[in-house]
Amino acid sequence: MWYQPGFVLGGSGRARLEVEDLSAGYGPVQVLRGLKLEVKPGLTVILGPNGAGKTTLLRALNGLIPRAGQVLLDGEDLPEKTHEIVQAGMALVPEGRQLFPQLTVAENLELGGWLVAKAERARRLERAFAQFPKLRERAQQLAGTMSGGEQQLVAVARAMMSAPRLLMLDEPSLGLAPRMVDELLAIARRIADAGTTVLMVEQNVRKALAVADRGYVMERGTLVASGPAKLLARSSVVREAYLGAASSDTTTAASAARHSAHPEPIH
Ligand SMILES: Nc1ncnc2c1ncn2[C@@H]1O[C@H](COP(=O)(O)OP(=O)(O)OP(=O)(O)O)[C@@H](O)[C@H]1O
Ligand SMILES: [Mg+2]
Repeated sequence: MWYQPGFVLGGSGRARLEVEDLSAGYGPVQVLRGLKLEVKPGLTVILGPNGAGKTTLLRALNGLIPRAGQVLLDGEDLPEKTHEIVQAGMALVPEGRQLFPQLTVAENLELGGWLVAKAERARRLERAFAQFPKLRERAQQLAGTMSGGEQQLVAVARAMMSAPRLLMLDEPSLGLAPRMVDELLAIARRIADAGTTVLMVEQNVRKALAVADRGYVMERGTLVASGPAKLLARSSVVREAYLGAASSDTTTAASAARHSAHPEPIH
């Protein structure tokens, strides 16, 4: 176990995010078009095939690329710059972890708390180590020498150093062994249960829907289905495209690209 059962990580507040008519892309290439979604307290998962725009959505919400449209965090306009967004209470664990490989675990965590005063940063580091005892043991290890699963934990703990009200996770299980996938998803669930709203992109559809409260399905820059996770797991769009013929838990969303019918309404 990499985490202490019963832990309460970081901030809380059961934040709510409302997104209306969101567009974003890269230069002349518009990837997201008129997205509308609501992220309620708990754990929301976004599913979709490669290239659908899932990472683009999280990057736009984190201020890493420009966006148009309305984004409200607990009824307040979300700022545009990343450091202001972090201060407003939203943090991102990016696709591929993006740790500083030449820095130690402790240094990576401290960077996650760079916006808060030194004494508070030290308190949060202590809390992160209390909640992830294995990270304390590895505090002086260079992040780049850790396994993929270990690095993902560091990335999650680093994001929690900013005590977010809303945590975004981009494919936390990517490339991990099944046991580590389960552990990461359990941690996402615990973070949500402890009061931090979680918005998670995942390709591990079956497992993600098993831990999530709600889900959205994105294809080609738009949302094509949404609903409670249990209903989505049973819905035809998800079953056929993601859970269909292949019975493996590692069924990826890539197979969805072959399907074009989207019978599930957005609501
Ligand atoms: N920096 C970039 N410049 C130009 N186009 C980009 C850039 N990053 C992504 N894209 C394009 O935006 C579209 C959406 O990409 P995005 O990474 O958001 O998809 P995704 O749903 O996260 O896919 P995956 O499941 O593979 O991570 C793709 O067509 C991609 O080629
Ligand atoms: Mg992505």
